[in-house]
Amino acid sequence: MTTRHTHPCGRIILSDNLPVLKAMDAGSVDLIYIDPPFNTGRTQSRTRIRVERDEDGDRTGFQGIRYRTEVLGRSGYADTHTDYLAFLEPRLREAHRILAPNGSFFLHIDYREAHYCKVLLDDIFGRASFMNEIIWAYDYGGRSKRKWPAKHDTIFWYARDPRAYTFNFDEMDRIPYMAPGLVGKEKAARGKTPTDVWWHTIVSPTGGEKTGYPTQKPLGVLKRIVKVHSNQGDTVLDFFAGSGTTGKAAARNGRHFILVDSNAEAARVMAGRLARFAPECIGFPAKADLERLTDTQLTLAYTEHRGHHDE
Ligand SMILES: C[S@@+](CC[C@H](N)C(=O)[O-])C[C@H]1O[C@@H](n2cnc3c(N)ncnc32)[C@H](O)[C@@H]1O
Repeated sequence: MTTRHTHPCGRIILSDNLPVLKAMDAGSVDLIYIDPPFNTGRTQSRTRIRVERDEDGDRTGFQGIRYRTEVLGRSGYADTHTDYLAFLEPRLREAHRILAPNGSFFLHIDYREAHYCKVLLDDIFGRASFMNEIIWAYDYGGRSKRKWPAKHDTIFWYARDPRAYTFNFDEMDRIPYMAPGLVGKEKAARGKTPTDVWWHTIVSPTGGEKTGYPTQKPLGVLKRIVKVHSNQGDTVLDFFAGSGTTGKAAARNGRHFILVDSNAEAARVMAGRLARFAPECIGFPAKADLERLTDTQLTLAYTEHRGHHDE
């Protein structure tokens, strides 16, 4: 499969990612970011609800006003891999193969799996290609009283070639100084460049960025990766794409995107979220048709595609 700039903007593929990766040309992608399931053994799910003011409603809001809740739907995927590294390894080896000579690879991973993945990635990319362990720190949800509350994810950055890679320092967003009083007014107003610890809120459960897809990552984190580690016209790949956050960051910044996910719900969310970039949809119906399909029809379309793929 030729992947470099064959479509003006983007491609969304509903499929297991391994056969897709195997079909891609060596050196054809400039930036890869993946956020695989974390092997929690649970089903990751989210319920979409609508609340309406209703005196007899089931919720009480601000100033005691009553609201009625209506469940609009549920989305989710099974997060179970009995042998996590055996699942990841062939995919990581393909990622290394299809990365362009000056390309970068990002693995976003749970702190419980990170160290095993680092050893595997060192083996695949070579230790010299390890560039950074980025800590995405957030502050949301419950706080344990029995240990330090875990409020971070790990993002490993590997360069295909540690001597020649894209790193657009001037494209970095700037962040506020912790003690602005200690630097001059001008410096304080300009802010400073980030380190390898990125403080960023999670996607707000009530904000406009929310798609309803479970485990959606913040656009701000992906925007930083895309802008610093790729150039306009480059191709960005996410083969555990979920709600398509990587695609949105790429398209908004003039990059081509290729998004792969094996979950029909993810494909539907991505097609809707990225509709204005007119992506090519492979393995499932285009957006206009999607809106008319029920979940059962969508799953059938997906199964038919899988059957075709497996032939
Ligand atoms: C943690 S979510 C990704 C969330 C994404 N970063 C976002 O911002 O929405 C992981 C995704 O990997 C997908 N997935 C799991 N196994 C897969 C496979 N073998 N091939 C393709 N996608 C897979 C799941 O369906 C899920 O959508």
